[in-house]
Amino acid sequence: MSSSSHLPPPYPASRPRRLRRHAFSRELVRENALSASDLILPVFVHEGVDKTEPVLSMPGVSRLSLDRLIPVAEECVALGIPVLALFPVIDAALKTADGREAMNPDGLVPRVVRALKDKVPGLGILTDVALDPFTSHGQDGVLDDSGYIINDRTVEILAEQALVQARAGVDIVAPSDMMDGRIGAIRSALERDGHIHTQIMAYSAKYASAFYGPFRDAVGSKANLGKADKKTYQMDPGNSDEALREVGLDLAEGADMVMVKPGMPYLDIVRRVKDQFRVPTFAYQVSGEYAMLKAAAANGWLDHDAVMMESLLAFKRAGADGVLSYFALDAARLLKG
Ligand code: PBG
Repeated sequence: MSSSSHLPPPYPASRPRRLRRHAFSRELVRENALSASDLILPVFVHEGVDKTEPVLSMPGVSRLSLDRLIPVAEECVALGIPVLALFPVIDAALKTADGREAMNPDGLVPRVVRALKDKVPGLGILTDVALDPFTSHGQDGVLDDSGYIINDRTVEILAEQALVQARAGVDIVAPSDMMDGRIGAIRSALERDGHIHTQIMAYSAKYASAFYGPFRDAVGSKANLGKADKKTYQMDPGNSDEALREVGLDLAEGADMVMVKPGMPYLDIVRRVKDQFRVPTFAYQVSGEYAMLKAAAANGWLDHDAVMMESLLAFKRAGADGVLSYFALDAARLLKG
């Protein structure tokens, strides 16, 4: 709270435009800035060699085979992007009701993690902990007869999935499933197995959002999900206090960093979380936000680079320490000049 003595004197003693007149002083007094080190690049990886498959609803984004991913990882290092977030596209034949492929130590994700840590050791690797790329029904957990996602059984599988990723050498595991108690279960499993350095970035306030559509196209869970939704585990978009409870629980259970998702429509949540907890706080500018800006830019309705940079800066202003964004490479290239 600023006291009244800090209120500026009225016009004409105060002329706020004075500081905006020249570029030098706009730069001098700018409160927030974006740098490449704030960015995390999400990527989609699939089996095969020499295989690049564009995601139609995400212009500029493709599913890549490992050999095609390595140069992208190298470019991240060259541009100063600290972390790559891996999302697997799993062959339909491997998808089951219980998503057991998620626990396969020789599955796509652990193989890609091992290769990236071997070939691009300077880059931080983050893996998604959730079952939706692996389940035949596209939900993030296992179902009971009524179609309800069973919490505690799902958490056991998630803990095993996180262990498989940690054993493959991943730096950060990021549970995006919104089951209750999963951070605690994953933290104890990691400790028991000796992975005391594995970081957990918790998708703590993840909303049941309509902005995830293009991502579900990309990983191929949309058709499997059909008309079903994720409202019994992801948060209701009307809620804000609940986000603080979720963040509090995840921190108490052992999260190192927390996340709010989606991003742009939820900047108020980012600010509340940062103000209340003062912990490393991230936001995910999700696939639908990316698609929306890309579509408007492609039509010539918005200036691509300008809205990209403005939208990313807005996360910093809202209090985020970093942003997961499909724009990460483009933005880092622009920042490098
Ligand atoms: C699922 C997951 C989703 C995203 C990341 N992890 C989609 C969902 O919850 O259905 C969405 C990311 C995006 O839209 O870019 N565990």
